Amino acid sequence: MFVLYGATGDLARRMVLPAFFELAQHGLLPEDWRLIGSGRGERTDEEFVEHVRSALAEFGPDPDEGPWDDFAQRLRFAGGGFTADDPGQLLDAVATARKEIGDDAQLVHYLSLPPKAFTDYTRALGAHGLGEGARVVYEKPFGASPEGFRELDDLVHSVFDEEQVFRIDHFLGKEGTQDLHALRFANGLFEPMWSREHVAQVQIDVPEDLDVADRADFYDATGATLDMLVTHLFQVAAEVAMEPPVSFSADDILSARESVLANFRPLAPEDVVLGQFEGYRELDGVPDDSDTDTYVAARLFIDTGRWRGVPFLLRTGKRMAAKQQRVSLVLHRPKGPVNDVPANGNVVSLSLAGAGAVDIDVMAKKPGPDLAMAPARVSLDLSKIPGGEPLAPYVSLIHDVLIGDRSLFTTSEGLAQTWRALQPVLDARPEVHPYAPGSWGPAAANALTGEHGWLLGQ
Ligand code: BG6
Repeated sequence: MFVLYGATGDLARRMVLPAFFELAQHGLLPEDWRLIGSGRGERTDEEFVEHVRSALAEFGPDPDEGPWDDFAQRLRFAGGGFTADDPGQLLDAVATARKEIGDDAQLVHYLSLPPKAFTDYTRALGAHGLGEGARVVYEKPFGASPEGFRELDDLVHSVFDEEQVFRIDHFLGKEGTQDLHALRFANGLFEPMWSREHVAQVQIDVPEDLDVADRADFYDATGATLDMLVTHLFQVAAEVAMEPPVSFSADDILSARESVLANFRPLAPEDVVLGQFEGYRELDGVPDDSDTDTYVAARLFIDTGRWRGVPFLLRTGKRMAAKQQRVSLVLHRPKGPVNDVPANGNVVSLSLAGAGAVDIDVMAKKPGPDLAMAPARVSLDLSKIPGGEPLAPYVSLIHDVLIGDRSLFTTSEGLAQTWRALQPVLDARPEVHPYAPGSWGPAAANALTGEHGWLLGQ
């Protein structure tokens, strides 16, 4: 049984409800289930069904291309809001659903809510005894500052055990990110080169071409560093840098990710470049004097034996020249006898977008009479793997919640480490450089990458 808080809100409409329907299409929902939408307004079940249908019509998948009738008859709505003092209609709706599908149905609470509402809803779940035996899903950001994180985390742990908590970072659910594990641990080729001995630097580059669309309020209070760096980019860096887990069990993966996060060296403020695209302050909902960062580039070091001294270059920004999501490992130049290999001649690169892709830049012999070298690319598009059915990150992660697999979720300890690594930047508040929309961001960030430059945009 799935209770969706904020069921009539934007995130539920765009992401969660479509993901749920996609699970139904893939046959990945339990045999019997109910989804109870919770919201402040009053709606009948039928009105909620109409709401879900219109969300699917707008954001897909097309309700007519799936088991819509069966899906629709399992949707309920509990209005009247949900607070510690007043549960509205929710307790009755949960009791009725339990009667229908059995007391032993796993209860999942999904907080599809603005982060500032997490506290009140968590309290309400505790006050009404809905925490026991349940799973709970929090959207990101889980806390918007180190203090905010700690307060929320303490509160959450007063109602739930850590094992019950699923904190979403959808970059961990991307097919391409998950492919990192396959590439490294299921091949003899990559794991032996996955270290400082062979890798000169790692770039995790997520330029975006859009601005902040209709989210100016949220975005201006958040900025790229909190929206993307301390969350998605740090988690992906941990995925790249983790030691091989003892096994692929959730506990072993979580502990491998936590250990490497604990080795993130706190960012030096001089290794961070912030930017704001020109024209940002003119957007609706953005104050004229906003100094919010719409761009961040950082050079992170990870102090494990495997990675000591190897810079992890992380970059993301709005209104940049392109939209891409890339993890690239740039290899050292070979020791000889070929002397003129370019700095970026050998690169293993993964695209995290869509179904994911692996691109390997190699130096090859240019066919012809001479022994001349030329750069060449080998590409593997994961969507072409026969029989594959790529799942969008939300679909994959909600499925993991339903089966109780936490391996692709963030943990309390892991997030505490990400805030620790970010702290010097929060304290120093580096200058925010302007950059032209449609560019690759402030020139000041070029110095972070040394002779390699940023691979994207070259
Ligand atoms: C979100 C951020 O978490 O991730 C957005 O809040 C960003 O600002 C988005 O654009 C990127 O996600 P996707 O789905 O494009 O990988």
